[in-house]
Amino acid sequence: MNDTGKSAANSDVLEAIRTRRVVRSLTTAPVAREDLETVVDSARYAPRAGNRRIHRYIVVTRPALLRALRMISPGMLQVPTAAIVVCVDWAQVRTYGFAPANPGPYIDVGTAAATILLAAHALDLGAGPVTSFSRTAAATLLDLPESVRPELIVCLGHPAVERRPPSCSRPGPTWADVVRWDREAHPD
Ligand SMILES: Cc1cc2nc3c(=O)[nH]c(=O)nc-3n(C[C@H](O)[C@H](O)[C@H](O)COP(=O)(O)O)c2cc1C
Repeated sequence: MNDTGKSAANSDVLEAIRTRRVVRSLTTAPVAREDLETVVDSARYAPRAGNRRIHRYIVVTRPALLRALRMISPGMLQVPTAAIVVCVDWAQVRTYGFAPANPGPYIDVGTAAATILLAAHALDLGAGPVTSFSRTAAATLLDLPESVRPELIVCLGHPAVERRPPSCSRPGPTWADVVRWDREAHPD
C-alpha cells in the first residue's frame, strides 16, 4: 500500500490509463512474437457479456497481408508491423441465445480492444484501433469462415516518436462537465 491506501499495482493501472495514446507513427521494427502473445492473451481478461467467449483474434504480421489490410482500411493511417483483428463469431452469438438487438457482442469488442491497447502500452508498444475498413474485404483477405466477422483492427508497432501528452490534457470538457451526480439532482 502507498500513503493513499492504494496498492502500487493499482496506481500503475491508473497511470497506464492516463498515459495511453493512439500511436500512428511507427518504426519498421517488427513486434516480438512474445509481446504479441502477451498482448493478445490480455484480451481474455477483458470483461464480457454473460461471460461468453464469442471473439476470435487474427494476428497478422506478414508484410503482404498487412499491406493488403491497409488498402481496404481508409482509417488505417499508420503503417503497422503487426495487427490484431478482433472478430465476432456470430454463429456462436446465436448459439448463446443473444437477442439480435443485444449490444453485448459489440460492447465486448470494445472491452477487448481497450484491454489490448492497455496491454500494448504496458509493453511500450504503439497501438491504435481502426474501425474504418471493409469488413467484407477483410474477411476475404483473412479467409474467415462465413460466421466470423472482423469488427475492429488494433494496429501495433514500435513508436517512432516520443509519447504524446494525454489527450485529456488538451482544452475541452473536464470529467465534471460530462458527469451528473444523482445526489446533486436529488439531495437526501
Ligand atoms: C471505436 C473506435 C474506432 C476508432 N477508429 C479509428 C480509425 O478508424 N482510425 C484511427 O486512426 N483511429 C481510430 N480510433 C482512435 C480514436 O481516433 C482515438 O482513440 C481518439 O482520437 C482519442 O485519442 P487517444 O486514444 O490517443 O486519446 C478509434 C477509436 C475507437 C474507440
